[in-house]
Amino acid sequence: MKILVTGATGLVGSALLPRLRRQGHEVLSLTRRSDAGPGTVIWDPERGSFDASACAGCDAVVHLAGENVAGGRWTDARMERIRSSRVDGTRLLIEGLDRAGIRPRIWVGASAIGAYGDRGDEVLDEDSARGTGYLADVCRAWEAASDPVLAWGARRVLLRIGVVLDRREGALAKMLLPFRLGLGGRIGDGRQFWAWITTRDLVRIIERALTDDGLSGVVNAVGPNPADNRTFTKALGSALGRPTLFPLPAFVARAALGRMAEPLLLSSTRVVPKRLLEAGFAFEDPDLVAALTRLVRGEDG
Ligand SMILES: NC(=O)c1ccc[n+]([C@@H]2O[C@H](COP(=O)([O-])OP(=O)(O)OC[C@H]3O[C@@H](n4cnc5c(N)ncnc54)[C@H](OP(=O)(O)O)[C@@H]3O)[C@@H](O)[C@H]2O)c1
Repeated sequence: MKILVTGATGLVGSALLPRLRRQGHEVLSLTRRSDAGPGTVIWDPERGSFDASACAGCDAVVHLAGENVAGGRWTDARMERIRSSRVDGTRLLIEGLDRAGIRPRIWVGASAIGAYGDRGDEVLDEDSARGTGYLADVCRAWEAASDPVLAWGARRVLLRIGVVLDRREGALAKMLLPFRLGLGGRIGDGRQFWAWITTRDLVRIIERALTDDGLSGVVNAVGPNPADNRTFTKALGSALGRPTLFPLPAFVARAALGRMAEPLLLSSTRVVPKRLLEAGFAFEDPDLVAALTRLVRGEDG
């Protein structure tokens, strides 16, 4: 297939591209970076500029682009960038392709488990109701922004991605230093669930979404064993062989991180991958301790 990937320079995209190319797909990367080399197309979503002519012949789109949600304190301006980079960016991409007469038959769009909001112990699958709050609202608008591809007759998969565990970047990478120093501990009361996924399983899920005609609609891209923060903390401590005696009280997290503390660290989202399991997807990293042990040893993805 010829596949257009947005956000290809990010954590997930940089692991996805080599795998897709190894499998013989032709991959075009859509980026804002002007220093991009061959196989890339430039766009400027903030200015609303996207010339789709170089994307002719694309069979599929993997749309990952969006302002990093954990990339800095949530000022009003940053929250607006998080929203508009996803919602307006998706519209720009689809309108640009449509104007150029390019209507890929497969659309794989990133979304996030933030769509479910803060739900305590409730086990959430793809049939569960959406949640409320800022991230849930962003996810709703982000998912809806790709509705026009349905009019093309495209098969659309919306991946509600969980916390991506990777030693290079993201949540785990940020936790490694304090935990290695023996300064790690649970966050808040530690009862909040995190639905996690390793990069290598997420990349396999994206590939499956591209190639399995039976998959469409919302698909939770999370591992089968979401863990509460106490369990996660113990698992990371044991993977590193370090004690985890220093809890981070919720009020300290709120003071240090402001508005992002609640949705990113303290809220509970116990999401399970019902559709993937029904489809017979076999996770390479179903077990948290084994996955963390593998990752902290420096194995990629
Ligand atoms: N990582 C996670 O834990 C996680 C969890 C749930 C959902 N997700 C979602 O999955 C997708 C991929 O995640 P990721 O971790 O790979 O993200 P990432 O590392 O932050 O990369 C996203 C890419 O999007 C592009 N981008 C950044 N800011 C942008 C903006 N303002 N406008 C347009 N494009 C922008 C960048 O590519 P260029 O610089 O090349 O343009 C960047 O490399 C994201 O949409 C994310 O929200 C991730």
